[in-house]
Amino acid sequence: MVYRAFGDAGRRVVIEERLEGDEVSVFALVDGEAVALLPAAQDHKRAHDGDQGPNTGGMGAAAPVPLDGDLRERIVSEILEPTARAMCAEGSPYRGVLFAGLMLTRDGPKVLEFNCRLGDPEAQVVLLLLSAGLPDAFAALREGRLVPDSLLDVSGAAVGVVLASRGYPERSETGVPIFGLEQAAGGALIFHSGTTLRDGTLTTGGGRVLTVVGQGGTLGEARARAYDAAGRVRFDGMQYRRDIGARLEAVAQAHSTAVPAGRR
Ligand code: GLY
Repeated sequence: MVYRAFGDAGRRVVIEERLEGDEVSVFALVDGEAVALLPAAQDHKRAHDGDQGPNTGGMGAAAPVPLDGDLRERIVSEILEPTARAMCAEGSPYRGVLFAGLMLTRDGPKVLEFNCRLGDPEAQVVLLLLSAGLPDAFAALREGRLVPDSLLDVSGAAVGVVLASRGYPERSETGVPIFGLEQAAGGALIFHSGTTLRDGTLTTGGGRVLTVVGQGGTLGEARARAYDAAGRVRFDGMQYRRDIGARLEAVAQAHSTAVPAGRR
């Protein structure tokens, strides 16, 4: 507020309920009142390990988040379905992806925000878990047909680690040459976010430069692949979190490592 970092938005203070718990990004395909749940993901918004440091656009994501049956039922029946019904009742039926950012509190799931899109970096892990039928599911949705559950089968796990520039999120260094992408690409999928080609050389062009995504049968395997690949990329000042997906992996291990399907 003192430095007006957010312009006029910094002139007013809004005090809200503090919600304690785990944050989870829940996605659903919505067609009017019908709701089909996609796998949930966990974003990691703070810059440093252990959820320390400044807030960022997202330092990495892991999916699926294991939601037990009761919790999944509450999310659908108390949050997603009433929201879809309310849009119909207002004469604006929604057809598309509904993203609910939730806090899983001791009193149950609470909504932080809604978006009408897949999240970033969540999409980079969620889309990889869905079967090849996803384009058909989107096509069916566009035509107003119910989404067939069989098209939304989920398999395995994915972990995406964001490789960021020195100084991110406050002031990011750019124009730094990037090395090692070919070695990293052997075991992972690499998404470019802030890269620029300068005279044929790939350089950093923003704060969040790349997301390196590993896939596997379990979160542990996916994490190992993502971090193996992240370790092969190099650019001066590169920073990334070492604990993306670690909490979820611990939860999955406590549930005897079975990664549940996130469909309904
Ligand atoms: N990862 C949060 C968002 O895309 O809004």
